[in-house]
Amino acid sequence: MNDYKALYARKKLTADEVAARVENGWLIGMDAAIGQTPAIIDAICRRAESSSLSGVRVQMLLDTYPYAFFADDHLSGRVTGESWFASGGARKALAAGIADYIPNYYRDCPRHIRANYEYDAFCVSVSPMDKHGYFSLGTVSSYSPAMIDKAKHIFVEVNENTPRAVCGTQLHISQIDGLVENTFDLPTLPAPTLDEVSITIGNLIAELIPDGACIQLGIGAIPDAVGMALKSKHDLGIHTEMFTSSMVDLIECGAVNNSRKQIHRGKSVTTFAFGSKAINDYIDDNPAIEILPVDYVNNPEVICQNDNMISINAALEVDLFGQVCAESIGTKIMSGSGGQVDYVRGACQSKGGKSFIAFSSTAKGGTISKIKPVLTPGAVVTTSKNDVDYIVTEYGIAHLRGQTLSSRVSQLIAIAHPDFRDELRFEAKKRGILI
Ligand code: COA
Repeated sequence: MNDYKALYARKKLTADEVAARVENGWLIGMDAAIGQTPAIIDAICRRAESSSLSGVRVQMLLDTYPYAFFADDHLSGRVTGESWFASGGARKALAAGIADYIPNYYRDCPRHIRANYEYDAFCVSVSPMDKHGYFSLGTVSSYSPAMIDKAKHIFVEVNENTPRAVCGTQLHISQIDGLVENTFDLPTLPAPTLDEVSITIGNLIAELIPDGACIQLGIGAIPDAVGMALKSKHDLGIHTEMFTSSMVDLIECGAVNNSRKQIHRGKSVTTFAFGSKAINDYIDDNPAIEILPVDYVNNPEVICQNDNMISINAALEVDLFGQVCAESIGTKIMSGSGGQVDYVRGACQSKGGKSFIAFSSTAKGGTISKIKPVLTPGAVVTTSKNDVDYIVTEYGIAHLRGQTLSSRVSQLIAIAHPDFRDELRFEAKKRGILI
């Protein structure tokens, strides 16, 4: 232990000292959410503002802190953000033309990282060092192992509030070039507002989820509402991309015990977690949750090994073929694909599995139907017509997979908001896709 303590002391730096080591043209990688290192990135941005540092690129997914290079163009050419997901600050910066984005299926990120990128530095937030010299990467594994393999330097921020995930990625003090102590309260996500529409949708989906099912919940209020509606179920399991607050509730109320999973029985499996403080408290020192790399967790061939795999994700609009757009409003990028397609495919290949794409029937105060004759020009197709399974609104459930085009059209019109059904029917008849 003494040797590790001495090594720790020798590697201790300030964020400004880490920033001072960054050279022109460096590519810096970070993983998702609270795995990121705000102090180091802020120091790099400050240095770029006051020196000739230029051409630095910073990659991350789900940017969680207010990075200066996403705020406006004053760091243009000096530090540029590249997002693997295009949410938050990255979404706004993309709209302003000052950031870049790497389209992907989340499961493929480690493969892209290994094939396409050489990182000068990988930066990650970690829990305090244990007596064996290891730091836990806390709530995130995702593509960290791939970036660790491809990085010339590794810098960590040690935050005493980062939970120690016993079944997650670890870094040893000997692998680290520098560490910055930076303890602060980890950010949380506000609890989604569960309105009447979300609750109705949650209850509709819950009726089709049997006891013993294994669940994945995506981002947003509706997946969360489904989580809330599952509290009366028994023996549920969790195999998911993002471990959410409602999952902790399901574990604590006894609905989830992972007892009927075919793989990782007795354990919840995720690739990262983000939400409430309760999530971090649950993960800390808990062998009942495994935080594993995304190329394993999100691989449809892994996902489908659990029977009755149920995936629930959101969308922005759907056309009458059942093409799902979950990433853009017309040409405006709203997010990446994340793991939506990974879980649609994995759930559909699972014995008894089902995939649900759920959303309120309208947007903007009821003025826009999310079920459209054709997608808005520029809309990005996330889930294709060949992969889509169930579509759900507050008006009901459409089962599209394997169905004729005409059946899809009539089912989708039946779950559209009543104010838009005549128009949808008229457009479908005009195109000859409703017989
Ligand atoms: N036309 C115009 N505006 C629309 C719209 C439409 N068809 N659908 C939604 N909007 C607007 C909403 O009004 C809202 O606007 P506001 O921010 O001004 O209130 C905004 O777009 C977001 O819509 P909302 O329904 O609240 O979306 P969400 O926060 O639940 O997120 C996704 C939805 C699709 C962006 C989110 O699920 C996502 O990131 N998906 C990525 C793919 C995925 O599912 N990955 C798996 C989990 S990581």
